[in-house]
Amino acid sequence: MNKIKILAIVGSLRKDSYNRQLALAAKEIIGDRAVFNLLEYKDIPMMNQDIEFPTPESVKRVREEVKSSDGIWFFTPEYNHFFPGVLKNLIDWLSRPVSDKEPQVLAGKPAAISGISPGMSGTGIAQDHLVTLISFLNMNVMNVPRLTIPNAMQQLDRDGKLALKESYPYLERQANAFLDFIKKQIEK
Ligand code: FNR
Repeated sequence: MNKIKILAIVGSLRKDSYNRQLALAAKEIIGDRAVFNLLEYKDIPMMNQDIEFPTPESVKRVREEVKSSDGIWFFTPEYNHFFPGVLKNLIDWLSRPVSDKEPQVLAGKPAAISGISPGMSGTGIAQDHLVTLISFLNMNVMNVPRLTIPNAMQQLDRDGKLALKESYPYLERQANAFLDFIKKQIEK
């Protein structure tokens, strides 16, 4: 069997994003059990049907990356009790059919969701909205476990980097569960 491919989509474009750091911690936990890539998508234009065809090269690239992955792991911040607009914009592009003959690339893909915030919410409300959206797009959502990490500042090291002391076992548990979830889907 080929190695499982997980694609991480981080809902923050910020260089030092806690959610990006969380995704990198997940990559480390997954280790050599799967190929784990982070999707880079800051070059995606704002969705505008005037530029939908011919498909922009950046959009072709992200669609290909999603298509060739076995599972998508979202790491999202919470902006005003929602997930950020950049993530909605990306998903809007991904939600459109590739061509007359090829449907959109998200349908049926296993999805996991995690998020971290400096505040108390731990991104739970944003995650609920994301579940609504990706369920509409027929992704196969792993609802348990989801990971919501509040109070990010309490888990930083001296350099201000995410050390994840308390949350590490929960991230490990979710990583293991997601690998099993993907394997079960592949075996079907
Ligand atoms: C925020 N932030 C925030 N935090 C939260 O827990 N609930 C919220 O509703 C919001 N709303 C919000 C709106 C906007 C426009 C911004 C820019 C920020 C704070 C946010 O959680 C914090 O900036 C995180 O550090 C963002 O995630 P990254 O970039 O560190 O991954």
